[in-house]
Amino acid sequence: MLNYLTPNFTFAPILPEYGLGSRIWDVHGQEFIDMAGGIAVNALGHCHPVLVEALTVQAKKLWHVSNIYTTEPAQALAQRLVENSFAQQVFFCNSGAEANEAAFKLARKYARDHFGKESGKNEIVACVNSFHGRTLFTVAVGGQPKYSQDFAPLPEGISHIPFNDVAALEATVTDKTCAVVIEPIQGESGVLPATEAFLQAARKICDKSQSLLIFDEVQTGIGRTGSLFAHSRYNVIPDILSSAKALGCGIPIGAMLTTSKVGASFTPGSHGSTFGGNPLACAVGCAAFDIINSSETLNHVLSQGEKLKSELIRIGRAFDVFVEVRGQGLLLGCVLSDQYSGRAKELMQLALQQGLMVLIAGSNVIRLAPSLLLSNEDMEEALLRLQSAIKCFVNVS
Ligand SMILES: Cc1ncc(COP(=O)(O)O)c(C=O)c1O
Repeated sequence: MLNYLTPNFTFAPILPEYGLGSRIWDVHGQEFIDMAGGIAVNALGHCHPVLVEALTVQAKKLWHVSNIYTTEPAQALAQRLVENSFAQQVFFCNSGAEANEAAFKLARKYARDHFGKESGKNEIVACVNSFHGRTLFTVAVGGQPKYSQDFAPLPEGISHIPFNDVAALEATVTDKTCAVVIEPIQGESGVLPATEAFLQAARKICDKSQSLLIFDEVQTGIGRTGSLFAHSRYNVIPDILSSAKALGCGIPIGAMLTTSKVGASFTPGSHGSTFGGNPLACAVGCAAFDIINSSETLNHVLSQGEKLKSELIRIGRAFDVFVEVRGQGLLLGCVLSDQYSGRAKELMQLALQQGLMVLIAGSNVIRLAPSLLLSNEDMEEALLRLQSAIKCFVNVS
């Protein structure tokens, strides 16, 4: 296969060409069931007719204007986000990393505006094994040195505490802290849910230290866990939230949501993005939002998630291959048993050979993030193909 791209990705040996619903066909016509969803992006599957229509209608109207103008699609999507969250304001960008970059910059600016430069209130507390994107600031805040160490010098003033460790959070946050950032479910590092106690303690600790609580919902947001945002299950409200992935269902878009008090620190000219609020992306975002934010879709996510989880547990036990299946809604992680430890990638590759796309989350977890509209038929076929892959996996072991 020709490859003119820089070698930072190791591509799978197939070339996807078409997609419809939860199925993808490659250039040779081979069909795959997509349980990876473009890493939790294709929340309504591929080429959903309502999204195709929204894109086509907008494509005939207006593609881009500079950000000295706002547009109806941008305001309409921001209004939907505001009316269905804690937030009063939205900043649009193009990816999860940019949404987090905006969140971290805003937290520092807010602290400087309210407490003064001399306060030194600019430190960010994040979690070990977190993932917030690949810009220099976001790899520094992400708790995985493998993504940041080769790019030093890194932004300073960032510390990491073990995920779900209330005592460590308490001990690390000081009056120099401007923000604490948490993924309600750590996605990339193994589909690890935060405990309610951790998120509630984080809220209290942030209030006490007058620092901002940021939830990174790039992976968990927009219906993936069966509620619009994962944090709503925990009864904890952040000051800033980052969203991307499913927000555009495959069209690049990111958003940072915040309150008007905090958002006020993004004074004119303080931050920006050429493509942020792009009319094409926002028109698709509106159409996607209306389908996802309905009790019909969210209940479907919960019921299909339960079904999928119990089937994965059954298969995991039958082959003695998974010790745990965790996650919420249609973001699930199957943890390999000790005997297969570190070999998730191998199983993912075997699944692809069986016509099934899955993800990994670290070296030990098979991750599933399929379409939120996943049908029973596609789920059953996916599980059959997964079992075929597992049979090969345990036989070669
Ligand atoms: C929790 C979380 N934050 C941020 C990002 C980065 O998003 P993007 O790749 O769109 O920059 C990801 C991507 O996987 C993510 O899972």
